[in-house]
Amino acid sequence: MAEVEYRCYSEPFLRQFVTDYFLALGESEEYAAINADAVISGALRWYPAQGQGLEKLFRHTRQMLEGGIVPNAPMSFVIDRPATAVLDAARGSGFVAGTRAMRKAIEKARAYGIGCVLVRRSNHYGTSGYYANMAAEAGLIGIAFTNAGPEMAPWGAKTAVLGTNPWGIAVPRRDGPPVVLDMALTMSGQGMIRWAYEEGRQVPITWALTRDGRRTTDPAELLEGATQLPIGDFKGYGLSFMTDAIAGVLSGAKFGLDAYADLKDLGVGHCLLALDIEAYMPRDEFESRLEQLIAQVKAAEPIQPGAEILLPGELELRRMEQRLREGIPVAVSTVERVRALCAEIGFECPL
Ligand SMILES: NC(=O)c1ccc[n+]([C@@H]2O[C@H](COP(=O)([O-])OP(=O)(O)OC[C@H]3O[C@@H](n4cnc5c(N)ncnc54)[C@H](O)[C@@H]3O)[C@@H](O)[C@H]2O)c1
Repeated sequence: MAEVEYRCYSEPFLRQFVTDYFLALGESEEYAAINADAVISGALRWYPAQGQGLEKLFRHTRQMLEGGIVPNAPMSFVIDRPATAVLDAARGSGFVAGTRAMRKAIEKARAYGIGCVLVRRSNHYGTSGYYANMAAEAGLIGIAFTNAGPEMAPWGAKTAVLGTNPWGIAVPRRDGPPVVLDMALTMSGQGMIRWAYEEGRQVPITWALTRDGRRTTDPAELLEGATQLPIGDFKGYGLSFMTDAIAGVLSGAKFGLDAYADLKDLGVGHCLLALDIEAYMPRDEFESRLEQLIAQVKAAEPIQPGAEILLPGELELRRMEQRLREGIPVAVSTVERVRALCAEIGFECPL
């Protein structure tokens, strides 16, 4: 198995680098800071093979250079009703669009109990949990989902129509950081399969179908024309369809085969939803009831004696705490590609 070599950087160092990088690409201070926060949040929580963190710079840069992401795009709320709104992201940064839409949803939920903002004409927004967590950090319940380019075949088919369409759901806790579920609706993604191929690893049989609709563990057979298998078989397919029906169809964004088809206009759509706990019950009561649920889950008898039962998001939370202390690992191959990108845009690379 090929060993992937990593280099570690401190969080403040990487955050400064990514902020400066986005400024060099022409984003304003505000847009650069939001982009950097979303990228660093991904770098703290996920494995490089999951395509978050600095991996985000590659396609984002290509799109900015070729006009697919407009720097400082003039985003506007084209519909704005008491509890709902539609944000036209004007082909700007998906990170900024998701953040603005969730901020608006939080504002509406504080006033009306619930806020739901849909986004059209956006770009890839990174991790859904980032936006759901924004609401939970503000004391509300957050839900975020997005459509994406076709990677998943409808159940029983072998050609991709739907996206990996990730969901983030976050609830605030009295006794700790929010509980954050953050997951794609597919078992894997094309990036993870490529990574396994480069590391010389087999992939689980549940991950993907070959071009001709066969299951395999050989990533080499999945590099061209493969489709990603949904979580929970046909149930995950159903969830992905419904996600696109709301984040794509209802938002006025592109959907199905058209989403991501044109690098100059990905046309992504998102849904950002916030719920005010106090609209349903006193906060104290919710918090103590949630702690009871968590205690019951934690006390479940493990299959392996002594094994720990984890909450959704707990792995990523621990990873983040460790990386804040010890640094964020970046694959050396990624560092080299980032250096080449910096040279291309004429920015002195500190990595
Ligand atoms: N924007 C996009 O188009 C896009 C597409 C796909 C994925 N993503 C993002 O990629 C990231 C990775 O997604 P993923 O589906 O590969 O994540 P994953 O499969 O690693 O984790 C999914 C969820 O399962 C939880 N989990 C994992 N192991 C667990 C365990 N043993 N016990 C309890 N819970 C456990 C995690 O905490 C997480 O909440 C997410 O941030 C997602 O939003 C973005």
